[in-house]
Amino acid sequence: MTASRISGFYNLTLDERRAKLADAAALSPDDLAAYVSNGGLSAEAADHMIENAIGTHALPLGIGLNFVVNGRDVLVPMAIEEPSVVAGASFMAKLARAGGGFIATTSEPLMIGQMQVINVANLEEAKLKLYEHKAELLAEADAIDPVLKKFGGGARDLEVRMIESSNIGPFLVVHLIYDVRDAMGANAVNTACERLAPHVESITGGRVHLRILSNLADRRVARARCTIPSKELAFGKGESQTRPYSGEEVRDGIIAAYAFAAADPYRAATHNKGIMNGVDAVVIATGNDWRAIEAGAHAYAARSSKYTSLSTWNKDKEGNLVGTLEMPMAVGIIGGATKVHPAAQAAIKLMNIKSASELAEIIVSVGLAQNMAALRALATEGIQRGHMSLHARQVAIAAGASGDMIEKVAAQMVTEKTVRIDKAEEILRQLKA
Ligand code: MEV
Repeated sequence: MTASRISGFYNLTLDERRAKLADAAALSPDDLAAYVSNGGLSAEAADHMIENAIGTHALPLGIGLNFVVNGRDVLVPMAIEEPSVVAGASFMAKLARAGGGFIATTSEPLMIGQMQVINVANLEEAKLKLYEHKAELLAEADAIDPVLKKFGGGARDLEVRMIESSNIGPFLVVHLIYDVRDAMGANAVNTACERLAPHVESITGGRVHLRILSNLADRRVARARCTIPSKELAFGKGESQTRPYSGEEVRDGIIAAYAFAAADPYRAATHNKGIMNGVDAVVIATGNDWRAIEAGAHAYAARSSKYTSLSTWNKDKEGNLVGTLEMPMAVGIIGGATKVHPAAQAAIKLMNIKSASELAEIIVSVGLAQNMAALRALATEGIQRGHMSLHARQVAIAAGASGDMIEKVAAQMVTEKTVRIDKAEEILRQLKA
């Protein structure tokens, strides 16, 4: 069984971390080999994935530690270029552990395909005719993907909406609701919409214009919650550079920060960006389409016609901090890059997941942990101190530091409270003199 707490992981060398990881997840070094060779994606494989390929693009891959999701320890692969994200998620997962970890659920994996029907003479009549033919349209859509059907997926429902447009006049939109099981689903849904279009045209007498899935996957949502005893949130003397913060103070600070995001779209965008720091890192590490997840998240955040926070933070009657997150989560573990990218395959093995819904539950838990990490820092010392010490290393490398020099240059910049490329170059010159 995997243990997601690995003490001292931060201080190990790359090779030691890989060995610990293989041990903790009961994997062979071969299972994690992709992580040793820049993600293991060869230029030849890349050439089969996209057009005009000339090579591959690598990102750092870190491990989110301490996660317990639905009672199971899980080591979470996170691909991200931004410092502090992996450390923040791991630390918050440790605090959440004290309250039992993250409890997460998903809805059925239902995606929506849209068909835009224009040039319809009588919209009301066409709408009813579509409903009259619903059973045969669904049967037709169902027969398109026998593999998906074998695994329990297929067409589930059909809805017809009427849309007013000042540009082209009113038109119909048919929503095909499709259960895509463990796939992300775009291919299955797009194929179904394209195939169904002629039948929809003959029923309505109109012309089917667009036939494409909607990234507002509001029928395929993932939810996570965590309960954190407020004493766990305290910012001790060792951690804080200014003053200690009590657990209650931090808890109330997080709740006030959430109130800001709930009320103000300018803040909500940044608040949700913090959630996406965690979400995208896992989505990318598993070879999933992070643009789809981003589009779905922000559209969902604006579903009440006012853009707001995707998460909530409040306290329960015992005074514990309670966080929740709900968002669309159209991720798959079969098909596309999830199947052909060696690092994506390693990620699935590492998390020991068997279904897309399990992956979605982990991702949304990481999003909630990441959100809490940002709010805890913002509500107390601000994010710059923690952020800067890691950022300083990148600046040192950009200034030409290598080996031991990276840490030395970074540490001096942090001490001097100036993390800038010209400063790094100056320190480097002094150290080399
Ligand atoms: C930075 O990548 C993310 C934060 O701005 C999120 C937030 O403000 O909540 C720290």
